[in-house]
Amino acid sequence: MIDKFDMLKDIERVLVSEEEIHARIKEVGAQIAKDYAGKCPILVGVLKGVVPFYAEMSQAIAIPLQEDFMCITSFEGGTQSTGKLTFRKDIDHDIEGRDVLILEDIIDSGSTLKLIMEIFKERNPNSVKICTLLDKPSGRKVELTPDYTCFTIPAAFVVGYGLDYDDYYRNLPFVGVLKPSVYQD
Ligand code: IMP
Ligand code: MG
Repeated sequence: MIDKFDMLKDIERVLVSEEEIHARIKEVGAQIAKDYAGKCPILVGVLKGVVPFYAEMSQAIAIPLQEDFMCITSFEGGTQSTGKLTFRKDIDHDIEGRDVLILEDIIDSGSTLKLIMEIFKERNPNSVKICTLLDKPSGRKVELTPDYTCFTIPAAFVVGYGLDYDDYYRNLPFVGVLKPSVYQD
């Protein structure tokens, strides 16, 4: 049972600290600003897990850009992808001829982003690239390589800095491994 009032107790170990997250986002954001100089990209966030990452990364990319969001989910409260993707919200902008940079919290099987890439490419953008906070390559089921990765992590179910278990733990300021006892009972 999740103890809503002592989230830290449910964390086995911290995988990426607050300080590491902030420093790495500054670094990757500067690289993106350089790569997209003069282009005015559309930054598309995949809700809901991307929220803290999006807020910090968008400020680290110090060039003119437009912001947009979409919502697609593959989990139904568990720790394994259901494989069934539910499209809940599309972006507002027309991306034809535009440079699109998708921000995602974590890439596991790769199915969510593969589907988003397919949908976006039909809309004839100039380019579509992916920037992820975390990459878990051990979980990959489809071929997908992010263009920008802040951290590559081992096979573990993680929460914090936007990542959730049943919508809990998103507000932890670091990324940590969730104790399996939380979801195994
Ligand atoms: P994929 O389609 O399997 O790549 O899954 C991507 C989505 O699964 C992410 O946007 C997350 O919402 C969720 N996810 C995958 N691994 C984890 C994890 O370790 N913790 C929390 N959510 C995860
Ligand atoms: Mg999620």
